[in-house]
Amino acid sequence: MTELDRRQASAPAPSGWTYAPAPESREVVSIEERYGLYVGGEWLEPRSQEWYETISPASEEPLAQIAQAGAEDVALAVDAARGAYENAWSGMPSARRAKYLFRIARILQERSREFAVLESLNGGKPIRESRDIDLPLAAAHFFYYAGWADKLEYAFPNRRPGPIGVAGQIIPWNFPLLMLAWKVAPALAAGNTVVLKPAETTPLTALLFCDVLRQAGLPPGVVNIVTGDGRTGAELVKHPGVDKIAFTGSTEVGKAIQREIAGTGKRLTLELGGKAANVVFDDAALDGAIEGIINAIYFNQGHVCCAGSRLLVQESIVEPLVSKLKRRLATLRVGDPLDKNTDVGAINSRGQLDQITELVESGVAEGAELYQPPCRLPERGYWFAPTVFTNVAQSSRIATEEIFGPVLSVLTFRTPEEAVEKANNTAYGLSAGVWTEKGSRILWMAQRLRAGVVWANTFNRFDPASPFGGYKESGFGREGGLHGLEPYLEFE
Ligand code: NAI
Ligand code: MG
Repeated sequence: MTELDRRQASAPAPSGWTYAPAPESREVVSIEERYGLYVGGEWLEPRSQEWYETISPASEEPLAQIAQAGAEDVALAVDAARGAYENAWSGMPSARRAKYLFRIARILQERSREFAVLESLNGGKPIRESRDIDLPLAAAHFFYYAGWADKLEYAFPNRRPGPIGVAGQIIPWNFPLLMLAWKVAPALAAGNTVVLKPAETTPLTALLFCDVLRQAGLPPGVVNIVTGDGRTGAELVKHPGVDKIAFTGSTEVGKAIQREIAGTGKRLTLELGGKAANVVFDDAALDGAIEGIINAIYFNQGHVCCAGSRLLVQESIVEPLVSKLKRRLATLRVGDPLDKNTDVGAINSRGQLDQITELVESGVAEGAELYQPPCRLPERGYWFAPTVFTNVAQSSRIATEEIFGPVLSVLTFRTPEEAVEKANNTAYGLSAGVWTEKGSRILWMAQRLRAGVVWANTFNRFDPASPFGGYKESGFGREGGLHGLEPYLEFE
């Protein structure tokens, strides 16, 4: 038993409010025993003849057998995408392409409850989030890019935009369907076809999405879905028939992909990790800031590339802020992702739990002070209590490395200049937050923070019209907005 396990096992029951269970029904989803690959509008048995099991991370219950696509399978999918590109999609009048995207958006809305339950079941995120954030945003991305599909020449005047060809898209497990939407919607709107590989731990909503494509009558081969782990992703990256790679995931794999395709002429966008600074000034509305800090780091168990994982607090308010924060932390309900009262769900996988545990132990070893509210974690499944570290050294691992879990590191600053310097002292640059009452200070900070997105008096807010992406090791290229179409277009 580690020090952390001991603390968690000995925690008293939470005091104060108790909530009766309010589970969302699983009846709305039906899961197949085994899935093939979605290629050319058909379900194919994998040529690899390999499968693996996907589970619910909240209970470790097996959910389905998933195909581990091999090189031959990836090649079939790329061929299907090429055929559809040449014979059906790229030459189709753009207003008709828009019609398919609108249909997909509407079907996602109609079936959102089913998708939300499946997303929470397979990924561990609270149903409140999959229902109120992932699904509405996924549909919104399709609506948004449907609107641009027949207006590209107005979006990019005098530049004669045209599609690139076949896009290979590799996505992570933290927002499975939403990342699919971020990738597929702009690619199709621009006239490309797609081979998409979902993350190995969360394939089920991408596989259900194939049913949406059929319902929408999308021509076969326009979107192909191949499941499998990193080996399948690597096959897709190196296939010569792919014209563009879009990747969201770890910085390590992002760098490997960049090396692999160097010199091939393939286009590339990378959306990688982050270690965002969330900066609170002494004039900020404190209670609002507390809610923002909670949302910034405990949303989706902290499995968020733009999470506000480094809290920078002006020194004069650190004590009241930290004590309010701890009090608020104790009210977070950790548990069954399908319970409508749950705030923090299950950690996505055993591997991710190990990574979080290892980094948190390093924080304790490096002398930071750990706080976890009393909370009883379920016995089965993968769980981690919401955690705050104070007394954190600027150079420590918990202040510099992406933890990708419900773990906040609190640091302090005295002046705005020092806040900027500390906020920018990172290898990443995906997002940042500023909490202050002064509008002029928001602008002053936003100009100096080296981050793709800067939120002011809010955090983790998304809109399909707003571009998202990073500086430095957080990657390059933008998703969302008009910027998000550019990587899928060629200009004359
Ligand atoms: P990962 O980068 O290994 O996985 C992301 C996707 O890439 C998955 O679909 C995976 O199958 C695929 N992949 C893995 N190796 C590949 C390869 N060689 N070629 C092509 N595709 C490959 O990330 P992982 O291992 O799941 O998480 C590790 C850490 O990465 C996390 O703890 C977190 O810090 C970071 N991460 C960041 C994300 C973000 O949104 N920026 C998302 C997921 C993870
Ligand atoms: Mg990995």
